[in-house]
Amino acid sequence: MDADHQRLIRQVRQRLESLARAGVDRAPLGPLPAITPSMIASAVPRTSRAEPPRASVVDQPEPQEADSSATVAPLPRRRPAAPTPPPATPATIGSLFDEPGISEPVIPPEERPEALRVLAEEIASCVRCEVLCANRTNTVPGEGNASARLMFVGEGPGQTEDETGRPFVGKAGKLLDDMITKGMGLRRQDVFIANIVKCRPPNNRDPEPEEVRNCIGYLERQIAIIRPEFLCLLGKPAAQTLLNTSMPMGRLRGKWQRYKGIPTIATWHPAYLLRNPSAKKDTWEDLQMLMKAMGIPIQKRGGGG
Ligand code: URA
Repeated sequence: MDADHQRLIRQVRQRLESLARAGVDRAPLGPLPAITPSMIASAVPRTSRAEPPRASVVDQPEPQEADSSATVAPLPRRRPAAPTPPPATPATIGSLFDEPGISEPVIPPEERPEALRVLAEEIASCVRCEVLCANRTNTVPGEGNASARLMFVGEGPGQTEDETGRPFVGKAGKLLDDMITKGMGLRRQDVFIANIVKCRPPNNRDPEPEEVRNCIGYLERQIAIIRPEFLCLLGKPAAQTLLNTSMPMGRLRGKWQRYKGIPTIATWHPAYLLRNPSAKKDTWEDLQMLMKAMGIPIQKRGGGG
């Protein structure tokens, strides 16, 4: 084991210990695991394994332990070692393990409906987007099972949704209902349905980037409350926003993606499917990927259309 690895082992151990001290609620910690060189080796970026160690201002060692196997000279110190490492937070742990996850605390299932209700009230009083506020009849926060295993995310309310305050209740909504019930064999009330923006963009235009920025925190908080096991992103705005990419839908769909660690499938928006029925077979394939992962038996259900 070289000095590079030893230093990383120490850093990881310190992070885990300070996390345990802080009682951070990410996963039950229990006794600290033994950290082996091979675990660390797989976490070391290739360049740092191949290149000679470089001193960095944030990467200062605590007092070196004597190690007869060390072959690399101790790194020069540019500043004294901090007496205690900074407290670990889920975010720092996330970056350490390259798996950001959801940083908000887990809300017990029985408290989730109320948490969603309070959030919906906050959404109803939101005035961040002047144009959308002036245009809306109702905000459309989303609805469904507060502990849903599967959450659908669309783009934004249309006219019927704006009139009723409920997501996906117009023509596209009827097709989504069929996808959920006839296609997947679930009930609408088993899943949670939400949108990227909670107010109807005028004339059903795409939401502006600023509107998405203003609103996305509400969806993030809904996801953090519900903790779905799977996400299904409906259409380009939802997929590109949550997957933080400008890739076209044709390349995003049909394969597993991750949003904050949650296994995620992007597929065509039901409104697009109404205009392009030949794409329904793609969406049926995408839904079957979800069904397999969720352990839902796949019967011949007429290809999602
Ligand atoms: N289209 C969407 O993206 N969301 C809705 O709620 C309705 C139509």
